[in-house]
Amino acid sequence: MPKISVGRDDEDREEHGLKGTGVIGKHLVGEKQEAHKANPIHFDLARPHVMGLFGKRGTGKSYSMGTIAEEIQSSDVSQNLSTIIIDSMGIYWSMTRPNNRAATLLEDWDMKPKGFDAKTYIPEGKVEEFESQEMPYDDTFTLNPADFTSQEWAMAFNIEMNSKQGILLERVISKLKDNTDNYSIDDIIDAIRSFDFPKDTEEGLVNRFMTAQEWGVFGEESSLEKFTQRGELSVVDVSAFGEIASGWSVRSLIVGLLAKRILRKRMTARRIEEIDEMQNIAENEMPITWMMIDEAHEFLPAEGKTPASNPLLRWVKIGREPGVSLVLATQQPAKLHPDALSQCDLVLSHRLTAKQDIDALGEIMQTYMRYDLKHYIDSLPDRTGTGLILDDNSERVYPVQMRPRKSWHAGGTPDAFDE
Ligand SMILES: Nc1ncnc2c1ncn2[C@@H]1O[C@H](COP(=O)(O)OP(=O)(O)OP(=O)(O)O)[C@@H](O)[C@H]1O
Ligand SMILES: [Mg+2]
Repeated sequence: MPKISVGRDDEDREEHGLKGTGVIGKHLVGEKQEAHKANPIHFDLARPHVMGLFGKRGTGKSYSMGTIAEEIQSSDVSQNLSTIIIDSMGIYWSMTRPNNRAATLLEDWDMKPKGFDAKTYIPEGKVEEFESQEMPYDDTFTLNPADFTSQEWAMAFNIEMNSKQGILLERVISKLKDNTDNYSIDDIIDAIRSFDFPKDTEEGLVNRFMTAQEWGVFGEESSLEKFTQRGELSVVDVSAFGEIASGWSVRSLIVGLLAKRILRKRMTARRIEEIDEMQNIAENEMPITWMMIDEAHEFLPAEGKTPASNPLLRWVKIGREPGVSLVLATQQPAKLHPDALSQCDLVLSHRLTAKQDIDALGEIMQTYMRYDLKHYIDSLPDRTGTGLILDDNSERVYPVQMRPRKSWHAGGTPDAFDE
């Protein structure tokens, strides 16, 4: 019986066997409560993928995302990879702790609880908040306001480009960009007031930027390079924007800029790597980046655009060449941009019940399925961590029991760690 590896094509399977894969769970054989765990499922980590991670509330999406991150960290190719988790809920900091409460369950899988070397990054302006609540973090990051185009600001603020505020915004940013590469939010505000627009238009726009100032994320430079260190797992904790109305706008600015930067760097790196390959030099210039986005429909929605929409769509469409991988987790695949959905070469779907979501998923993956998707979903046993893997690379569908986490999954109470 050949080993099961998903995400891997025949050529790689022949050449590399199981190198560069990680075990994420076991194949479920049989239906419903009769189903039992069979062969391990190896998951390809070495090649770029676009992966959809779906399932209704509480079915294990965030948990499984952590499992994949653990496998990347433990993998024999981890030094050629870097992983970024966009953490909107503030739950991944706990990956540094071993999952002791699942010790018995893990034993069943011949595994032991283990903490990972995850680094949690928070926006610089949120330090006080984190410290006062004794929430752990490793380092901070900032964004440079000069790194954003007027369109990106407009999307973040939900301003129409051809409204009065939109026109003013466009002129302000282009005037600033003509004069300098570096400007602050205060400079933007001064520039707005230097134009002869109606007072209410100017002050309306000023207000938006004053709000942005309060997000606590803007500084003199965009310090995002630290997230792409070789072999590292970076948790970008953007949960602190949870309470504010524009929370998803800030998060999308961060993700959009990050996606643009990484893609650009990987494209340059790829060129150098090809030259190295021709000369038989093996090391990659810049690690292949895995970006994992929980609540992905907020960043790349089916309707409307965020500052992260275009950069993420570019990853999805051309990411295979430069070598960037994306994991998009959401409760509602129907709410995710259809281009992202159709470009997924791998899907892990935990239980879904809403018809529109099952339909959305069925549409992209039907070619090699023997039954309709609903049949597969209905055959899953009613246990946590079960799901379906739809793999375009091997053109197979696998019911799966995802493995327990080695590191702690913070679903709720952080003070459960107190000893
Ligand atoms: N493979 C698994 N093995 C054991 N327990 C699991 C597994 N997957 C999920 N669970 C359990 O299910 C709980 C809910 O999982 P998770 O937080 O990932 O849900 P979710 O799908 O992200 O939900 P939401 O949509 O609310 O974000 C976890 O806290 C964990 O206890
Ligand atoms: Mg979740």
